[in-house]
Formats: sequence, C-alpha cells, structure tokens
Amino acid sequence: MSQEEQDNRGEQRRFKIAVVGATGAVGTALLEILAERSFPASSVVALASERSAGSEVDYGRRKLKVQDLDQYDFRGTDIALFSAGGSTSAKYAPIAAAAGCYVVDNSSEFRYVDGIPLVVAEVNPEAIAQARDGKIIANPNCSTMQMLVALAPIHRQAGIARINVATYQSVSGAGRSAMEELGRQTAALLNFQSPQCERFPVQIAFNVIPQIDRFEDNGYTREEMKMVWETQKILDPNIKVNATAVRVPVFYGHAEAVHLETVAPISVDQVRALLVAAPGVELVDQREPGGYPTPVTHAAGADPVYVGRIRADLSHSQGLSMWIVADNIRKGAALNAIQIAELLVEHYL
Ligand code: A2P
Repeated sequence: MSQEEQDNRGEQRRFKIAVVGATGAVGTALLEILAERSFPASSVVALASERSAGSEVDYGRRKLKVQDLDQYDFRGTDIALFSAGGSTSAKYAPIAAAAGCYVVDNSSEFRYVDGIPLVVAEVNPEAIAQARDGKIIANPNCSTMQMLVALAPIHRQAGIARINVATYQSVSGAGRSAMEELGRQTAALLNFQSPQCERFPVQIAFNVIPQIDRFEDNGYTREEMKMVWETQKILDPNIKVNATAVRVPVFYGHAEAVHLETVAPISVDQVRALLVAAPGVELVDQREPGGYPTPVTHAAGADPVYVGRIRADLSHSQGLSMWIVADNIRKGAALNAIQIAELLVEHYL
C-alpha cells in the first residue's frame, strides 16, 4: 500500500528500526523507551557483537533475539540507533548510511565533523536539516545534553558569555561493566576485602575521581573538552566554557554545579519563569532541606532535566549559579536519540 493510501486510511506509517549495542546500558534503555513511547516501528532489530548473538533482550513486553552486527544488512532499515562505542560507530555507521539508513549515533565519533548535525531535541532540532551529506546525526555527550536543555532558554533571553561547570557523573555513563565494578567494589569493601580496579583508574566505591576519558595536551580531560566543543557547536560558538568532570559512586544520574555569566542582566525570578516554561525542564527549587533535585530522588529513571538551587552569584554582578540533574542514560543518551528519531519520522522520512 502506498504512503498516500495509508494516509487516506488514517493509518500511521511504520519504520524499521535497528538498535546497535542492544545489550549495553544505553541499548537497553533505547529498547525500553521505544516501547514506552509507542514509537511507530514496523520492526525493531537488536544488534550487538558476535559475543552476544543469540541472547535475548527486552523490548517492552516482548523479547528480541540479538543478532551479530557484522552480519547485518542495513538495506531496508529506516533508522539505526548506535550506542556501541566509537570504534563500532566508525566502522558500521557509514555502512548503514550508505545502505540508505539514517544513523543516530551516540558515540563521539562524528560529533565534531563539519556537516554532521549535533542535536539536542529541545535546543536545535532544525540542525537536522543542515546535514550536508549522508544520513548520520550525532547525539551529544550526556553532560552537555542536560546542561544545554536548561541553559538554552537563558542564553536566548540574556546571552550567556561564560559557563563554569563542575560535573558529578554516575558510573552508568561508562557502561554496564562500570556499574558492575562499582557494585563489586562496594560489596568487597563492606566485607573488609580489597577492591579490584579494572574499568576505573582508581577505586570508585566511596570515592570521587577527577578524570573522565583521557587527558588532552592542555591539561583538561576529553570529557571536559566535549562540553566546550559541543556547547559551541550546538548553542553558540561565542560561549566560553570551563569544565571539571568528576566521576562519583552513583549508579544513574549526572549532577552539575553550573555557574554562568550573562551578557545582559537577568534576575533569578526571570530565570525561574523561563525554566518553568522550557520544554524538557522541571524546576525543583525550594530553599529548604530536600527542596532540590538529586540523581536518586528525581533523575534516575525519569525523562526531565531537573534544575534547582538557582541563585544570584555573590561574586559577579551578572553571574548565576544553579544545580542541574538528569538521568544520563535517558535524556543524556537514549531519550534524546529517540527524540531525534521522532523528528526524522515526522519531517524527513
Ligand atoms: P556485546 O554485549 O556483544 O559486547 P556498554 O556501553 O554498556 O558497555 O555496552 C556496549 C554495547 O556495545 C554492548 O551492547 C556491546 O555488545 C556492543 N558492542 C561492543 N563492541 C561491539 C562490536 N564490535 N560490534 C557490535 N557491538 C558491539
């Protein structure tokens, strides 16, 4: 039946979707959210490495058999959601795109390539149309993602000149094996045994680690530089960003202490009003014990970006401080990828 005939009959068009990295932390959430949002899928294919081919993953109440990515033919697949690491994306995303499939890539492999859109659904959905060649769209880094959902409305109103941010990032951002390491180390230490370090350079249980990703020549880590590069690509190349990215022993949900300086003056009340109206944001800002968002009480398993602790910076006449928390696996990765897929379905496919 043609598209026109389907439309005439009021039937929704459906699309073939592939999830690459379906057994991983983000892949599992991709499948969960596709089912939760009743994404118009005619079929969903779960792909991972040869290691897990034949195993089963959940897609809503259904089970999908995992297939080997290397053996998969992307012809006929409409959208592939990739979350299997940079090297897997580097090899297979161009193959999928050449087969006519849109790729929404969660790795950092293509984020800084000119002509490849880097999209936060609430901030710059129009960038999808600027894809110069090919069909690859990059999904931003989790820390940048939640920060920009909250800061874009403030930038549009008052202009942000500079952002100083310290992150408190959960271990799920480093994948399933990192969550297992936090669990194992915690159990070991509570049993008076010494913890084993494999995924993190030093003990993560009952500790905080001021390094995420590798060191760059300028002394910043790559995770910190991602926040610089991505804020400038997505929101405004003139915004200056200074970041410190820290891993904390939390399973789900990143928190950020953000200090910003605006070009024009803006009051705390104006910021509150902007954020109450902002898509994807939830304000939790009572000045009392517990009147602020945390990963455990608000973000884990939830979709919004939560903002609290908004106050005028005592040390700067046009400075503001705030606390931004979100589920790094959902809004920070899987949810935004699916929002991009929804935009593709609505406007481009
Ligand atoms: P597999 O389970 O077969 O190793 P996480 O981010 O939680 O560590 O998950 C990474 C995801 O990426 C997993 O689903 C993993 O599958 C998948 N993956 C890793 N390397 C490859 C590869 N070379 N080809 C396909 N999938 C891969």
